[in-house]
Amino acid sequence: MAKFWVCAAGAGLFLACLILHSRFCGSPVLRNFAFQVSWRTEEILYRLDVDWPEYSEYFTGATFGVAVDSLNGLVYVAQRGDNIPKVLVFTEDGCFLRAWNYTVDTPHGIFAASTLHEQSVWITDVGSGSYGHTIKKYNSFGDLVQVLGTPGKKGTGLNPLQFDNPAELYVEDTGDMYIVDGDGGLNNRLIKLSQDFMMLWLHGENGTEPAKFNIPHSVTLDSAGRVWVADRGNKRIQVFDKDTGEWLGAWTNCFTEEGPSSVRFTLDGKYLIVAQLNLSRLLFVAAPPAGSIGDCSVISTIQLADQVLPHLLDVSGKTGAIFVAEIGAKQVQKYVPLNGYFLSFGS
Ligand SMILES: *[C@@H]1O[C@H](CO)[C@@H](O)[C@H](O)[C@H]1NC(C)=O
Ligand SMILES: *[C@@H]1O[C@H](CO)[C@@H](O)[C@H](O)[C@H]1NC(C)=O
Ligand SMILES: *[C@@H]1O[C@H](CO)[C@@H](O)[C@H](O)[C@H]1NC(C)=O
Repeated sequence: MAKFWVCAAGAGLFLACLILHSRFCGSPVLRNFAFQVSWRTEEILYRLDVDWPEYSEYFTGATFGVAVDSLNGLVYVAQRGDNIPKVLVFTEDGCFLRAWNYTVDTPHGIFAASTLHEQSVWITDVGSGSYGHTIKKYNSFGDLVQVLGTPGKKGTGLNPLQFDNPAELYVEDTGDMYIVDGDGGLNNRLIKLSQDFMMLWLHGENGTEPAKFNIPHSVTLDSAGRVWVADRGNKRIQVFDKDTGEWLGAWTNCFTEEGPSSVRFTLDGKYLIVAQLNLSRLLFVAAPPAGSIGDCSVISTIQLADQVLPHLLDVSGKTGAIFVAEIGAKQVQKYVPLNGYFLSFGS
């Protein structure tokens, strides 16, 4: 069965592309993962979009990260492997646009930070090669714009910009950024930098006490000015005030089986979406109002097939769609809000 897709790229050479394709164009292996998804949930909020992307053959490595630039309708995928492009660029509708292979060694986290004036993509690189142990900013065509850290030199020490294995970052519209370093290795740090890369505050100790970390793996912000950190090795989420860095609380009761790998809020801010890698599931946890964090409470679960291994995820600020980078399944999948949920979208 044939189907027309019209995809419009936000900028650049790709003003529009029209693609005629067969509906079941993906490889059988990848599509099996899609169809094995089962929903085990009290409240069903999202459904898998089995048609995203158009051609899953573009996924040629282990897909570690995904970032949505909703201003320009783009989805950036970071993948690892030998002799493959490390970054793939799709439209939110699933058209493949381009790939890059420059100056990325071993990508871990990826974040799209676009404004009306500038499209940019940040990548945390944990590679041991000459580009690794850095956090790099690119424009939307893959040109390197900024490098934080000392390329090729892992390490710890007093300089917070000497990264070891930087796991992820989150950039605010103001340009202020929050970095978690890292993904195992020597450092266990949460760092806030100003837009000119001056350190505003830091929590940098390894341990199980409040405001200490063991593998801080993912970081996000909410609209109440709180910073949420997936403290994976400690099987908890810790929360901080974004202005002062003050510790506000922690959630442990939802993560007794496995620590959280990824944290992002749904577009309406009602739920925190948490990926658990080895359990291959996504939890939707009720977001607490400003003030006390309280205990965490799981409202909905998406149980993925065994060995899908969801690592990091991102949410479209326009449609609310969730994009999940699955290391095991070697693909990114898209979940869209069900009809009736998020009725206010687009208004
Ligand atoms: C990407 O770059 C690496 C290192 O420079 C190179 O070994 C590899 O062949 C390149 N891959 C592609 C697809 O261009
Ligand atoms: C951090 O502490 C945990 C136990 O609390 C330990 O397993 C880990 O090796 C420590 N990491 C570093 C970098 O010291
Ligand atoms: C997932 O399982 C692998 C292999 O057993 C292990 O090395 C890794 O630490 C586990 N990850 C988490 C987040 O539990």
